[in-house]
Amino acid sequence: NDTITILGIETSCDETAAAVLRRHGDGTTEILSNIIHTQDDHAAFGGVVPEIAARAHVEKADQVVTRALEEAGMTDGGIDAVAATSGPGLIGGVMVGMMTAKAYALSRAIPFIPVNHLEGHALSARLTEDCPFPYLLLLVSGGHTQLLRVDGVGRYARLGTTIDDAAGEAFDKTAKLLGLGQPGGPKVQAAAETGDATRFDLPRPLLKRPGYDFSFSGLKTAVRLAAEELAPLSDQDIADICASFQRAAAKHLAARTERAMTDFEIPAGDTGRLVIAGGVAANTEIRAALTALVDSKGWTLLVPPSKYCTDNAAMIALAGAEHLVAEGAPPLAETLALAPRA
Ligand code: KG4
Ligand code: ZN
Repeated sequence: NDTITILGIETSCDETAAAVLRRHGDGTTEILSNIIHTQDDHAAFGGVVPEIAARAHVEKADQVVTRALEEAGMTDGGIDAVAATSGPGLIGGVMVGMMTAKAYALSRAIPFIPVNHLEGHALSARLTEDCPFPYLLLLVSGGHTQLLRVDGVGRYARLGTTIDDAAGEAFDKTAKLLGLGQPGGPKVQAAAETGDATRFDLPRPLLKRPGYDFSFSGLKTAVRLAAEELAPLSDQDIADICASFQRAAAKHLAARTERAMTDFEIPAGDTGRLVIAGGVAANTEIRAALTALVDSKGWTLLVPPSKYCTDNAAMIALAGAEHLVAEGAPPLAETLALAPRA
């Protein structure tokens, strides 16, 4: 029997998530359930508070797992393995997810598979798209901004990364500065809709610098200075700052990605594929900028639906299933003794 049904658990930031995924022998997958509880306990603090997140994961983990099993019709068994994010992330949350997964695996005597959170994002496009290896991955989340070459499961080469803030972090800080609330990305995007993106001449980070790294701290500072100069801000000022910032962020991401595409070695007879993943990939202006770039180069753009771009457990289940297929089941005694990893 080469079909695997796997439970995935994700708790590395502020979503408590569980999903059941079925992987068939031919490599196709079905998402049987995908439950995400987003913690609303952090709103008053302008960012995720690790201690509060960890406690909320303890409260919600069991309910979320139970709902994922119920929706998948798997409450009476039938799960072959359980995968959980083992890092990187907020340590308290990662511990809750790992211990929940270990307990489930031990009680059913099934394998427990630790999964790197970034690997989940890296493979997420394969949940819903026909996306063969190799591809260029732009991972843009609250904690990471990276360009990677993905050659296969477990075969990732990092080409570039942010030298200061992550893209999502820059959106979140911009929102906080303008009093828009968290998470900042969707708030900035919404405010930008009625804004004038040409009003502020924001810097173009690393324009002349070779390589594929990113930088967002200069943009963040420019936004702060513009806001300070105009204070008190009208709604139109806020909309214009958001639109200008979003435009600058999209251009920067596209400019660095274009460099990586130019240097990307495509196998003979194949075409280039760009995958965007991570929460910031939900941004419509960034998607539009990358769509235009990809079209101009004759590449294909693959973007997972938003619910699989932001943190979710289906991507963790998929990464776990791929490792199980590639490497076989790790002995339970060994994985039960694993600590979270950075
Ligand atoms: O991947 P993710 O859910 O969590 C991790 O960081 O791992 O990404 C969350 C980030 C946050 O910074 C959030 O503000 C950003 O993604 N984000 C967006 C949008 N939706 C979420 N940023 C820009 N535009 C959006 N529409
Ligand atoms: Zn993430």
